[in-house]
Amino acid sequence: IQPFTAIHNNQLTIAGIDAVELTKKYGTPLFVYDVEKIRQNARAFVSTFKKHGINAQVAYASKAFSSVAMVQIAKQENLSLDVVSQGELYTAIQAEFPVEKIHMHGNNKSFDEISMAVEYNIGCVVVDNFHEIELLAHILEEQQREMDVLIRVTPGIEAHTHDYILTGNEDSKFGFDLTNGQAEEALQRLRQIDRIHVKGLHCHIGSQIFETDGFTMAIERLFHTLKVWKDRHHFESEVVNLGGGFGIRYTKEDDPLPHPAYVEALITKVKEEIDQYDMAFPEIWIEPGRSIVGDAGVTLYTIGSIKEIPNVRKYVSVDGGMTDNLRPALYQAKYEAVIANKVNGTDEEEVSIAGKCCESGDMLIWDITLPKVEPNDILAVFSTGAYGYSMSNHYNRFPKPAVVFVENGEDKLVVQRESYKDMTQNDLSYE
Ligand code: LLP
Repeated sequence: IQPFTAIHNNQLTIAGIDAVELTKKYGTPLFVYDVEKIRQNARAFVSTFKKHGINAQVAYASKAFSSVAMVQIAKQENLSLDVVSQGELYTAIQAEFPVEKIHMHGNNKSFDEISMAVEYNIGCVVVDNFHEIELLAHILEEQQREMDVLIRVTPGIEAHTHDYILTGNEDSKFGFDLTNGQAEEALQRLRQIDRIHVKGLHCHIGSQIFETDGFTMAIERLFHTLKVWKDRHHFESEVVNLGGGFGIRYTKEDDPLPHPAYVEALITKVKEEIDQYDMAFPEIWIEPGRSIVGDAGVTLYTIGSIKEIPNVRKYVSVDGGMTDNLRPALYQAKYEAVIANKVNGTDEEEVSIAGKCCESGDMLIWDITLPKVEPNDILAVFSTGAYGYSMSNHYNRFPKPAVVFVENGEDKLVVQRESYKDMTQNDLSYE
């Protein structure tokens, strides 16, 4: 049970609203976000930098969950925005997000993506590779514009997390290697281009990280690099972007630090490094995604078929699955859940929650203890706010779910449930 959820007459409430009522109103599967929790998560990062008087940007990594309403919340909370595609940039523009606070990522930014970023004059492009440098230079010349950039480097840190979501090691498709001179080569090339202004360095060491060691090691390597670049190239970094990756609690086994603790650790380490090398304090930027929205989201499903294999297992199927939450199938991710219409029901039993896709691996939760379930009960799965809707897909031609925001005792539909017509609208006849 999440902090913002409660039990009222044995029924689950989300930010004060009855979960079962929400399913009657909007159907299932349904993503429900507590907006106040999103705001608290964002403010926990922002206020810690403020408390220390540090110039900072907290950029919401919109890949975790991008929609017009979500980008509007980021805007209201004075966050910056990290986009990784033209689609995320388009969403930000639709939401009228201040362009100067948009940062664009990607390891294979296309001509169209960079052109749109330049046309809208976004805050910065995080340059990932040599091909992109030339593409950007060409587009800036074509549009007669200028652009601030950060250089994305791979500092060779292995964060303690699942292999699939490691992006900070040397053998990585992202960024320039610090150890083989390519990052330095990128700096020199970028500085030859008048329309490009190098603001600093970026790194992202991984995701769902519970300790601060990985971050502090990355800071050591970045600042060592900056010291070398200062001596060799008179380069002074105005910005150091340390990426995202701050962990959240999915189950009782997860033990993340509170948001301010990560920020405190970053600030302490950066102070140490600038003292050691006698540098000016750069702006610190971070890019949290999961830790802004992850624990603010709940998914509600309707239970359908129940299959018992005596002495083996009871399969309880829901009306969604890997189409709205790919994480269990992709990363063996674990979740906690309750039966929303009888949270403290009796006759507890151990069951496994299956999705409805034609795929044996479409299991949402293995071996969870729940009150005795029946068809039409409502299952609430917690901490699904990050990389759930954003990684949803059309496998088996299931339409994408609806998304509802709850705040101040009111619920509001912010993404409509897809219709079959929406889903087939690009299909063309061959008759
Ligand atoms: N910045 C960069 C450059 C990133 O690559 C990412 C995530 C973030 C920021 C945000 O990281 P966060 O704070 O959300 O951990 N689909 C996976 C996560 C992939 C993360 C990719 N990059 C999952 O569901 O666990």
